[in-house]
Amino acid sequence: MIYAVTGSTGAFGSLVIQRLLDFKVPASSIVALVHNQSKTAHLVNLGLETRLADYDQPSTLDRALQGVDRLLLVSGSEVGKRLRQHTNVISAAKKAGVKLLVYTSLSHADTSVSPLAPEHKGTEEFLKTSGVPFVILRNNWYTENYSTDLKQARTTGIIEAAVGTGKVASASRSDYAEAAARVLIGEGHAGRTYELAGETWDYNALAKAASEVLGRPVVYKTVNAAQRTQSLMAAGLSQDAAGFVVALEQSIEAGSLAQAGEDLEKLLGRKPKSLTDGLKASLELT
Ligand SMILES: NC(=O)c1ccc[n+]([C@@H]2O[C@H](COP(=O)([O-])OP(=O)(O)OC[C@H]3O[C@@H](n4cnc5c(N)ncnc54)[C@H](OP(=O)(O)O)[C@@H]3O)[C@@H](O)[C@H]2O)c1
Repeated sequence: MIYAVTGSTGAFGSLVIQRLLDFKVPASSIVALVHNQSKTAHLVNLGLETRLADYDQPSTLDRALQGVDRLLLVSGSEVGKRLRQHTNVISAAKKAGVKLLVYTSLSHADTSVSPLAPEHKGTEEFLKTSGVPFVILRNNWYTENYSTDLKQARTTGIIEAAVGTGKVASASRSDYAEAAARVLIGEGHAGRTYELAGETWDYNALAKAASEVLGRPVVYKTVNAAQRTQSLMAAGLSQDAAGFVVALEQSIEAGSLAQAGEDLEKLLGRKPKSLTDGLKASLELT
Protein backbone atom coordinates (compact mmCIF):
# COMPACT_ATOMS: atom_id res chain seq x y z
CA MET A 1 0.00 0.00 0.00
CA ILE A 2 1.42 3.39 -0.98
CA TYR A 3 0.25 6.46 0.94
CA ALA A 4 0.83 10.00 -0.30
CA VAL A 5 0.40 13.29 1.55
CA THR A 6 0.19 16.69 -0.18
CA GLY A 7 1.57 19.82 1.48
CA SER A 8 3.99 17.59 3.31
CA THR A 9 6.48 20.40 3.97
CA GLY A 10 3.71 22.32 5.75
CA ALA A 11 2.76 22.21 9.41
CA PHE A 12 -0.20 19.87 8.97
CA GLY A 13 1.32 17.56 6.36
CA SER A 14 4.53 17.16 8.41
CA LEU A 15 2.52 16.11 11.45
CA VAL A 16 0.52 13.58 9.43
CA ILE A 17 3.73 12.03 8.08
CA GLN A 18 5.16 11.85 11.59
CA ARG A 19 2.01 10.10 12.84
CA LEU A 20 2.08 7.62 9.92
CA LEU A 21 5.64 6.72 10.90
CA ASP A 22 4.60 6.50 14.58
CA PHE A 23 1.89 4.05 13.49
CA LYS A 24 4.61 1.88 11.92
CA VAL A 25 3.84 2.62 8.31
CA PRO A 26 7.20 1.93 6.64
CA ALA A 27 8.89 5.02 5.21
CA SER A 28 9.09 3.13 1.91
CA SER A 29 5.27 3.15 1.77
CA ILE A 30 4.94 6.93 2.15
CA VAL A 31 5.36 9.44 -0.66
CA ALA A 32 5.77 13.03 0.46
CA LEU A 33 4.22 15.36 -2.12
CA VAL A 34 5.84 18.77 -2.11
CA HIS A 35 5.32 22.15 -3.68
CA ASN A 36 8.93 23.16 -3.43
CA GLN A 37 11.70 20.60 -3.71
CA SER A 38 14.21 22.82 -1.92
CA LYS A 39 12.38 22.20 1.37
CA THR A 40 12.56 18.41 1.43
CA ALA A 41 15.73 17.71 3.48
CA HIS A 42 13.87 16.61 6.63
CA LEU A 43 11.59 14.33 4.61
CA VAL A 44 14.51 12.73 2.79
CA ASN A 45 16.25 12.24 6.16
CA LEU A 46 13.18 10.30 7.30
CA GLY A 47 13.76 7.94 4.35
CA LEU A 48 10.76 9.14 2.34
CA GLU A 49 10.44 9.47 -1.38
CA THR A 50 9.53 13.05 -2.27
CA ARG A 51 7.75 14.04 -5.46
CA LEU A 52 6.91 17.44 -6.87
CA ALA A 53 3.13 18.00 -6.82
CA ASP A 54 2.07 21.55 -7.62
CA TYR A 55 -1.68 22.05 -7.36
CA ASP A 56 -1.42 24.58 -10.20
CA GLN A 57 0.45 22.23 -12.56
CA PRO A 58 -1.63 19.18 -13.47
CA SER A 59 1.30 17.45 -15.24
CA THR A 60 3.23 17.32 -11.93
CA LEU A 61 0.16 15.84 -10.25
CA ASP A 62 -0.22 13.11 -12.87
CA ARG A 63 3.40 12.07 -12.32
CA ALA A 64 3.26 12.42 -8.55
CA LEU A 65 0.23 10.19 -8.11
CA GLN A 66 1.52 7.22 -10.12
CA GLY A 67 1.15 4.06 -8.02
CA VAL A 68 -0.45 5.89 -5.07
CA ASP A 69 -3.21 3.90 -3.36
CA ARG A 70 -4.33 6.35 -0.69
CA LEU A 71 -3.95 10.11 -0.84
CA LEU A 72 -4.34 12.83 1.76
CA LEU A 73 -5.20 16.10 0.03
CA VAL A 74 -4.36 18.85 2.49
CA SER A 75 -6.38 21.88 1.42
CA GLY A 76 -4.31 24.61 -0.23
CA SER A 77 -3.32 27.84 1.41
CA GLU A 78 -4.10 30.33 -1.35
CA VAL A 79 -7.65 31.49 -0.72
CA GLY A 80 -9.42 32.16 -4.01
CA LYS A 81 -7.31 29.68 -6.00
CA ARG A 82 -8.12 26.60 -4.01
CA LEU A 83 -11.17 25.20 -5.77
CA ARG A 84 -9.27 24.99 -9.06
CA GLN A 85 -6.20 23.59 -7.27
CA HIS A 86 -8.21 20.93 -5.45
CA THR A 87 -10.11 19.89 -8.58
CA ASN A 88 -6.75 19.50 -10.33
CA VAL A 89 -5.60 17.10 -7.61
CA ILE A 90 -8.87 15.14 -7.59
CA SER A 91 -8.85 14.81 -11.39
CA ALA A 92 -5.26 13.54 -11.30
CA ALA A 93 -6.20 11.08 -8.53
CA LYS A 94 -9.03 9.77 -10.68
CA LYS A 95 -6.65 9.27 -13.64
CA ALA A 96 -4.07 7.55 -11.44
CA GLY A 97 -6.64 5.14 -9.96
CA VAL A 98 -6.21 6.34 -6.37
CA LYS A 99 -8.34 4.08 -4.20
CA LEU A 100 -9.05 6.51 -1.36
CA LEU A 101 -8.73 10.30 -1.21
CA VAL A 102 -8.98 11.96 2.19
CA TYR A 103 -9.66 15.71 2.03
CA THR A 104 -9.26 18.28 4.82
CA SER A 105 -12.32 20.54 4.68
CA LEU A 106 -13.93 23.05 7.03
CA SER A 107 -16.65 22.65 9.71
CA HIS A 108 -20.07 22.32 8.15
CA ALA A 109 -18.65 23.44 4.81
CA ASP A 110 -21.96 22.85 3.05
CA THR A 111 -23.96 25.29 5.20
CA SER A 112 -21.30 27.50 6.82
CA VAL A 113 -21.41 31.29 6.43
CA SER A 114 -17.62 31.45 6.75
CA PRO A 115 -15.95 33.22 3.82
CA LEU A 116 -13.65 30.16 3.70
CA ALA A 117 -16.55 27.75 3.16
CA PRO A 118 -17.41 28.12 -0.55
CA GLU A 119 -14.11 26.67 -1.80
CA HIS A 120 -14.39 23.72 0.57
CA LYS A 121 -18.04 23.17 -0.36
CA GLY A 122 -17.14 23.27 -4.06
CA THR A 123 -14.29 20.80 -3.49
CA GLU A 124 -16.52 18.42 -1.56
CA GLU A 125 -19.12 18.51 -4.33
CA PHE A 126 -16.51 17.87 -7.02
CA LEU A 127 -14.99 15.05 -4.99
CA LYS A 128 -18.36 13.36 -4.46
CA THR A 129 -19.07 13.29 -8.19
CA SER A 130 -15.49 12.38 -9.20
CA GLY A 131 -15.88 8.65 -8.71
CA VAL A 132 -12.80 8.57 -6.44
CA PRO A 133 -13.59 6.89 -3.10
CA PHE A 134 -13.30 9.65 -0.51
CA VAL A 135 -13.36 10.68 3.13
CA ILE A 136 -14.04 14.28 4.14
CA LEU A 137 -12.46 15.59 7.34
CA ARG A 138 -14.18 18.86 8.20
CA ASN A 139 -11.73 20.51 10.57
CA ASN A 140 -12.85 23.23 12.97
CA TRP A 141 -10.30 25.98 13.80
CA TYR A 142 -6.76 25.12 14.77
CA THR A 143 -6.12 26.25 18.37
CA GLU A 144 -2.75 27.42 16.97
CA ASN A 145 -4.64 30.18 15.11
CA TYR A 146 -4.60 32.03 18.44
CA SER A 147 -0.85 32.03 18.97
CA THR A 148 -0.53 35.62 17.67
CA ASP A 149 -3.35 36.78 19.98
CA LEU A 150 -1.56 35.03 22.80
CA LYS A 151 1.73 36.77 22.09
CA GLN A 152 0.01 40.16 21.95
CA ALA A 153 -1.88 39.43 25.16
CA ARG A 154 1.43 38.75 26.88
CA THR A 155 2.11 42.49 26.70
CA THR A 156 -1.37 44.02 26.44
CA GLY A 157 -3.44 41.68 28.63
CA ILE A 158 -6.17 41.95 25.99
CA ILE A 159 -7.59 39.66 23.33
CA GLU A 160 -9.61 41.78 20.96
CA ALA A 161 -12.11 40.41 18.44
CA ALA A 162 -15.37 41.24 16.68
CA VAL A 163 -17.00 37.93 17.53
CA GLY A 164 -19.44 39.11 20.23
CA THR A 165 -20.50 36.04 22.17
CA GLY A 166 -19.54 33.70 19.31
CA LYS A 167 -18.08 30.31 20.14
CA VAL A 168 -15.37 28.13 18.62
CA ALA A 169 -14.75 24.39 19.02
CA SER A 170 -11.08 24.42 18.10
CA ALA A 171 -8.60 21.57 18.44
CA SER A 172 -4.87 21.28 18.08
CA ARG A 173 -3.42 20.82 14.64
CA SER A 174 -1.61 17.74 15.92
CA ASP A 175 -4.93 16.11 16.91
CA TYR A 176 -6.49 16.77 13.51
CA ALA A 177 -3.31 15.41 11.91
CA GLU A 178 -3.42 12.26 14.00
CA ALA A 179 -7.07 11.75 13.04
CA ALA A 180 -6.15 12.20 9.37
CA ALA A 181 -3.36 9.62 9.67
CA ARG A 182 -5.70 7.15 11.37
CA VAL A 183 -8.31 7.58 8.65
CA LEU A 184 -5.72 7.24 5.90
CA ILE A 185 -4.47 3.88 7.17
CA GLY A 186 -7.77 2.69 8.65
CA GLU A 187 -10.68 0.76 7.16
CA GLY A 188 -14.39 1.49 6.89
CA HIS A 189 -14.14 5.25 6.41
CA ALA A 190 -14.88 5.54 2.67
CA GLY A 191 -17.86 7.77 1.92
CA ARG A 192 -17.88 9.28 5.41
CA THR A 193 -17.81 12.97 6.33
CA TYR A 194 -16.42 13.65 9.79
CA GLU A 195 -16.99 16.90 11.71
CA LEU A 196 -13.78 17.24 13.69
CA ALA A 197 -13.80 19.62 16.64
CA GLY A 198 -12.65 20.01 20.20
CA GLU A 199 -14.42 21.50 23.20
CA THR A 200 -16.60 24.57 22.61
CA TRP A 201 -15.44 27.82 24.20
CA ASP A 202 -16.25 31.52 23.97
CA TYR A 203 -13.75 34.38 23.97
CA ASN A 204 -14.08 34.96 27.71
CA ALA A 205 -12.99 31.35 28.15
CA LEU A 206 -10.19 31.97 25.65
CA ALA A 207 -9.02 34.94 27.72
CA LYS A 208 -9.19 32.83 30.88
CA ALA A 209 -7.14 30.07 29.26
CA ALA A 210 -4.67 32.67 27.99
CA SER A 211 -4.33 34.06 31.56
CA GLU A 212 -3.49 30.58 32.79
CA VAL A 213 -0.97 29.92 30.04
CA LEU A 214 0.70 33.35 30.26
CA GLY A 215 0.53 33.66 34.04
CA ARG A 216 -0.98 37.15 33.83
CA PRO A 217 -4.52 38.55 33.69
CA VAL A 218 -6.00 38.61 30.18
CA VAL A 219 -9.43 39.94 29.25
CA TYR A 220 -11.54 39.69 26.12
CA LYS A 221 -12.37 43.04 24.55
CA THR A 222 -15.35 42.85 22.24
CA VAL A 223 -15.40 45.45 19.46
CA ASN A 224 -17.58 46.07 16.44
CA ALA A 225 -16.51 45.40 12.85
CA ALA A 226 -15.44 48.98 12.11
CA GLN A 227 -13.35 49.25 15.29
CA ARG A 228 -11.76 45.89 14.62
CA THR A 229 -10.89 46.81 11.03
CA GLN A 230 -9.27 50.02 12.28
CA SER A 231 -7.16 48.32 14.91
CA LEU A 232 -6.03 45.55 12.53
CA MET A 233 -4.98 48.20 10.01
CA ALA A 234 -3.20 50.14 12.75
CA ALA A 235 -1.31 46.90 13.48
CA GLY A 236 -0.13 46.80 9.87
CA LEU A 237 -2.72 44.75 7.96
CA SER A 238 -3.88 45.97 4.57
CA GLN A 239 -7.52 46.99 4.26
CA ASP A 240 -8.26 43.77 2.34
CA ALA A 241 -6.54 41.54 4.90
CA ALA A 242 -8.25 43.35 7.80
CA GLY A 243 -11.61 43.02 6.04
CA PHE A 244 -11.03 39.29 5.60
CA VAL A 245 -10.18 38.78 9.28
CA VAL A 246 -13.27 40.74 10.30
CA ALA A 247 -15.45 38.70 7.94
CA LEU A 248 -14.08 35.52 9.52
CA GLU A 249 -14.78 36.89 13.00
CA GLN A 250 -18.31 37.85 12.05
CA SER A 251 -18.90 34.34 10.77
CA ILE A 252 -17.72 33.08 14.16
CA GLU A 253 -20.24 35.42 15.80
CA ALA A 254 -22.88 33.86 13.54
CA GLY A 255 -21.96 30.42 14.89
CA SER A 256 -19.94 28.94 12.02
CA LEU A 257 -17.44 27.22 14.35
CA ALA A 258 -19.57 26.75 17.46
CA GLN A 259 -20.49 23.12 17.12
CA ALA A 260 -18.52 20.53 19.04
CA GLY A 261 -18.95 16.86 18.21
CA GLU A 262 -17.63 13.44 19.02
CA ASP A 263 -16.03 12.51 15.71
CA LEU A 264 -12.53 13.70 16.61
CA GLU A 265 -12.57 11.95 19.98
CA LYS A 266 -13.86 8.76 18.36
CA LEU A 267 -11.18 8.76 15.67
CA LEU A 268 -8.43 9.47 18.21
CA GLY A 269 -9.77 7.03 20.80
CA ARG A 270 -9.11 9.69 23.46
CA LYS A 271 -10.14 13.24 24.32
CA PRO A 272 -8.57 15.88 22.07
CA LYS A 273 -6.13 18.29 23.73
CA SER A 274 -7.92 20.97 25.80
CA LEU A 275 -7.90 24.63 24.82
CA THR A 276 -5.41 25.46 27.58
CA ASP A 277 -3.05 22.63 26.65
CA GLY A 278 -3.39 23.51 22.97
CA LEU A 279 -2.51 27.15 23.65
CA LYS A 280 0.46 26.07 25.78
CA ALA A 281 1.71 23.80 23.00
CA SER A 282 1.27 26.54 20.41
CA LEU A 283 3.51 28.86 22.45
CA GLU A 284 6.17 26.16 22.67
CA LEU A 285 6.13 25.88 18.87
CA THR A 286 6.83 29.59 18.31
N1 LIG B 1 -8.67 24.79 10.33
C1 LIG B 1 -7.89 25.85 10.47
O1 LIG B 1 -7.93 26.59 11.46
C2 LIG B 1 -6.86 26.15 9.44
C3 LIG B 1 -5.93 27.17 9.68
C4 LIG B 1 -4.96 27.41 8.73
C5 LIG B 1 -4.97 26.66 7.55
N2 LIG B 1 -5.89 25.71 7.34
C6 LIG B 1 -5.92 24.88 6.10
O2 LIG B 1 -5.10 23.75 6.37
C7 LIG B 1 -4.07 23.66 5.39
C8 LIG B 1 -2.81 23.12 6.04
O3 LIG B 1 -2.45 23.97 7.09
P1 LIG B 1 -0.94 24.17 7.48
O4 LIG B 1 -0.95 24.81 8.81
O5 LIG B 1 -0.18 22.92 7.26
O6 LIG B 1 -0.47 25.23 6.38
P2 LIG B 1 1.02 25.48 5.87
O7 LIG B 1 2.00 25.18 6.94
O8 LIG B 1 1.00 26.83 5.24
O9 LIG B 1 1.21 24.36 4.73
C9 LIG B 1 0.63 24.49 3.47
C10 LIG B 1 1.32 23.48 2.56
O10 LIG B 1 0.71 23.55 1.27
C11 LIG B 1 1.77 23.65 0.31
N3 LIG B 1 1.30 24.35 -0.88
C12 LIG B 1 1.00 25.67 -0.99
N4 LIG B 1 0.66 25.94 -2.26
C13 LIG B 1 0.75 24.78 -2.95
C14 LIG B 1 0.57 24.43 -4.30
N5 LIG B 1 0.22 25.33 -5.24
N6 LIG B 1 0.77 23.15 -4.67
C15 LIG B 1 1.15 22.21 -3.76
N7 LIG B 1 1.33 22.48 -2.46
C16 LIG B 1 1.16 23.76 -2.06
C17 LIG B 1 2.85 24.43 1.01
O11 LIG B 1 4.10 24.27 0.35
P3 LIG B 1 5.10 25.56 0.23
O12 LIG B 1 5.28 26.08 1.61
O13 LIG B 1 6.33 25.01 -0.38
O14 LIG B 1 4.37 26.55 -0.66
C18 LIG B 1 2.82 23.77 2.38
O15 LIG B 1 3.54 22.55 2.35
C19 LIG B 1 -3.93 25.09 4.86
O16 LIG B 1 -3.38 25.07 3.57
C20 LIG B 1 -5.37 25.56 4.89
O17 LIG B 1 -6.10 25.09 3.77
C21 LIG B 1 -6.84 25.42 8.27
